[in-house]
Amino acid sequence: MVTANPRLAVDLAGVALQNPLIPASGCFGFGEEFLDFYDPNILGAAALKGTTREPREGSPTARIAETPSGMINSIGLQNPGIDAVLAQKLPGLAQFYHQPVIMNISGFSIDEYVHCCAATDGTCEVIELNVSCPNVHGGGMSFGASAEAAAQVTAAVREVVKESALFIKLSPNVTNIVAIAGACADEGADGLTLINTLQGMRIDVATRRPVIAERMGGLSGPAIFPIAVRMIAQVRSALDITVMGSGGVASARDVLEMMMAGATGIQIGAESLRNPLVIPQILEELPALMDELGIERLEEIIGAAL
Ligand SMILES: Cc1cc2nc3c(=O)[nH]c(=O)nc-3n(C[C@H](O)[C@H](O)[C@H](O)COP(=O)(O)O)c2cc1C
Repeated sequence: MVTANPRLAVDLAGVALQNPLIPASGCFGFGEEFLDFYDPNILGAAALKGTTREPREGSPTARIAETPSGMINSIGLQNPGIDAVLAQKLPGLAQFYHQPVIMNISGFSIDEYVHCCAATDGTCEVIELNVSCPNVHGGGMSFGASAEAAAQVTAAVREVVKESALFIKLSPNVTNIVAIAGACADEGADGLTLINTLQGMRIDVATRRPVIAERMGGLSGPAIFPIAVRMIAQVRSALDITVMGSGGVASARDVLEMMMAGATGIQIGAESLRNPLVIPQILEELPALMDELGIERLEEIIGAAL
């Protein structure tokens, strides 16, 4: 039996969360993996693995490289495809999990995003659009690489997403995150997830070869935390839009810091792979830390540093 602490509750663009803690997409599978560790009903919400129209096998191995304060991954969006996720994975999850679900949708064309979002709308509380995939019809640049492309894909999915809240998850590998965030807000996004991974690379000096098969991958973990905090603060200083923070969160203090930068929901990725119990641990630590810092309710600190 899970008892929620009302001091931790937040309103995420109209979705009531019992607390802001959310396993990040790609770090929670479709839920089953974590059952051995804790009851997932303690979560604020759960973000599921990135899903595309067709099933994908993902990148060749090795797909993971360690770094001094995080990891680099190139999973390559391995997933069973949208039809299997809706027919099997979501009903499977509903057997044991009753908190809000965030479906993470990826695509290589606007058509693919629209198809997946239309099929998904209403099956989950939040649709999170991962705009980091290369736009195969647009020369391979990602949809999140320019304000124009981000606006186009947001406008197209906005037409079909009517019931679920629509969040756009932005890449930090850009020069002006505020311009891209603004373009998504202008096209009617309900919120933004900030940030996805930063591009990184490691080389094995013995073999003189890149450690991961795809050469480069996405850097996540504590190394990117200050960058995520900076980008959330920049976007929230410029725009009045709900943000889910993502990037390097590993402790209760990190949660408070990211909320003070303007985040309402807090996603935890690499750290929950390193320590699958980190979310229950943070949940346990938060009330005492809030007492120490004179915080009555988490909602009162959102954007406190702006
Ligand atoms: C193994 C792994 C797989 C990931 N897969 C996805 C994915 O499918 N879709 C997505 O939007 N982000 C994906 N991400 C990015 C995370 O959701 C998160 O935004 C990022 O890792 C930064 O947070 P962190 O530093 O807490 O890991 C993945 C990250 C990791 C480490």
